[in-house]
Formats: sequence, C-alpha cells, structure tokens
Amino acid sequence: MKGEDKDMGKVAIYPGSFDPITYGHIDIIERGLEIFDKVIVAIAENEEKRPLFSVEERLRMVKSCFKDTPNVIVDSFKGLLVNYVGKTNAKVILRGLRATSDFEYEFHMASMNRSLNTQLDTLFMMTSKDYFFVSSRTIKEVARLGGAVEGLVPDLVVRRLKEKFKLPVPKKRRIGWDD
Ligand code: PNS
Repeated sequence: MKGEDKDMGKVAIYPGSFDPITYGHIDIIERGLEIFDKVIVAIAENEEKRPLFSVEERLRMVKSCFKDTPNVIVDSFKGLLVNYVGKTNAKVILRGLRATSDFEYEFHMASMNRSLNTQLDTLFMMTSKDYFFVSSRTIKEVARLGGAVEGLVPDLVVRRLKEKFKLPVPKKRRIGWDD
C-alpha cells in the first residue's frame, strides 16, 4: 500500500456515531480485521445529531464489545474526520453499506473526504444479509417502544437501552456497564 509504514501494518479507521453499536457494526469490524492489521473505531462526538448515549457511554459500550480484541482500538473524535485520520497512521476509511439507499450519502461523504485529503480512500463493505435491516436509529425506536432488539445488538447494549428508556432490566444486570 502506498506510503504504508510496514512496521505499523495496515490500519483502517471505522468512523461512525455508534449510537448505539449494533451487530451490523460488529460484523463490519470483524470482517475489516480480515483485511487490516488494526481497526480504529472512531466515535464521532457530533452533539448536533442529539445522540441518545453520551460519547463516554458509547465509548464504554464499544470498548466492552472488543475488550478481548487488542487489534481493535476504540477512540472518539470531534470535528472533521480527515483531521482525526491525519493523527493516525490509517490510510483507509472503512464504511458499511446496507442498501442502495445508503449509497448517495456515503458517496458524498467519501468524495468530500477524498477532496479534503487526496491520500485517503474509503473502502465499502456490504453488510451481511443478517443485519441488512439493522440501524442504530431503528434499534432505538424499537427499543423505546418496548420491542425486542435481542440478537441485533450485544446484550450489554440491550441492557443500556432498557435503562435509557426506563424499561425493566433484570436486577442482577443493573450493576456495571461492562457486562
Ligand atoms: O454512523 P454515522 O452517523 O453514519 O457516521 C457519520 C460520520 C460520523 C462518519 C460522519 O458524520 C463524519 O465523518 N463526521 C465528522 C465530520 C466530518 O468530517 N464531516 C465531513 C464528511 S462529509
């Protein structure tokens, strides 16, 4: 890869809001690790999107999901993604594509990032068929209305959603963020 530091290996940045992380995200990260030596999950702080979970809460959930995977680094960033990427040794932005409806937004974002930094490429991966319909937005809506999201997000996220929406959480699960 052009300009790659051989000692550091191939690094990709996987940016997003992760409000909250879903199995769709986890699928892309795991498949990213088949291609890259390291994946940096970069959580955008963008408060204007009025996230359900604070950046600290999102960081804790994502870190918890990858606590046994040392080649997944979890971080947060403010401002332009290209500026954050510039502080790392990543040359590739990794994004998942669920459907053609995602394409236009992703195409504009990738083109803008490429225009801001011509060294940067965006690599798109098709989401696995099992998670094609899963988005953080629909997960939040279903959870808020009391629907089941088990199997679509990790159990720790199910519990955090129930806490946020003040739905019953099994007592022994009420302590701790990480399991
Ligand atoms: O999970 P999302 O909300 O689709 O992720 C979007 C994200 C965070 C990757 C995008 O909004 C972003 O990169 N924000 C940082 C600000 C930025 O760099 N904007 C210019 C790219 S168009």
